[in-house]
Amino acid sequence: MNDPLVYLSIDGHAEMLSLSEARIPVLDRGFIFGDGVYEVVPVYGRLPFRLDHHLKRLERSLAAIRIENPFDTTGWKHRIAQLIASFPADDQFVYMQITRGVAKRGHAFPKDTVPTVFMMTSPLVLPTDEMRTQGVAVVSAQDNRWLRCDIKSTSLLGNVLMAQYAAEQGVTETILFRDGFLTEGSSTNVWVVKDGVLLAPPRDNRMLEGIRYAFLLELAAAHGLKVECRPIAETEVRQADELLLSSATKEVLPITRLDGQLVGQGAGAGKPGPVYEKLYAWYQQAKREAR
Ligand code: PDD
Repeated sequence: MNDPLVYLSIDGHAEMLSLSEARIPVLDRGFIFGDGVYEVVPVYGRLPFRLDHHLKRLERSLAAIRIENPFDTTGWKHRIAQLIASFPADDQFVYMQITRGVAKRGHAFPKDTVPTVFMMTSPLVLPTDEMRTQGVAVVSAQDNRWLRCDIKSTSLLGNVLMAQYAAEQGVTETILFRDGFLTEGSSTNVWVVKDGVLLAPPRDNRMLEGIRYAFLLELAAAHGLKVECRPIAETEVRQADELLLSSATKEVLPITRLDGQLVGQGAGAGKPGPVYEKLYAWYQQAKREAR
């Protein structure tokens, strides 16, 4: 577990080796330019959850930056299964990264490079009971990232700075506003509940469409929860009945404090709300049914 096996393919030479032995050439364009894309897939009971959705998003990210997909779906599934089998924990998260490969430094695409593929797996540490029952605190900031946030790129400097901003204030996440509208968190999607309706920002180039974005919408539709995907003004976020966040490793979590203010009104203020409780229960049920 301390030194798990990883998958590494450089210049088309693939091997499984221990994490401590894995090496990337310094001219890899992932290192030099952040020229690559990635995925984070949760694994429950040794089964990857919504893997087909993750592989489709990976395909979209690769196509957006014009890297040819190194494997077909079966090829990916086979390698992911090998990695999961090599790891002791039942619940894991698999990290996959593809870069444009190793080449002499120059911004434009080099000719004839072979994409570098790296995959590792780690224990999946889910949010604590306290985070779920008390909710988490977040701060807000202006979204100053580029306008292709729909690509799951390894160029994450904007996200890293926002995550650090949250860490320095002792909170879980920074949620972002662009031109007065909610986009997402530094590594999460953000949801608003008002009058029993679940609101989500529209999927476009200003946010990453999380795999849990479509998943929570599916859960809502299956259980008759009203949903609106539309631009959400900052004032609506600050007057929300509930705020939620979602990601592969956080699942779905209630936000109970925003910029030091309690979320919600009246007796429910600062407490996880009923829509969160339902979504969390449906999420856990779907996990059990997927086994
Ligand atoms: N982050 N938005 C951003 C910017 C993200 O980085 C993530 C995920 C999400 C949620 O997507 P999903 O539901 O597919 O996890 C939204 C992953 C977990 C990460 O970078 O570690």
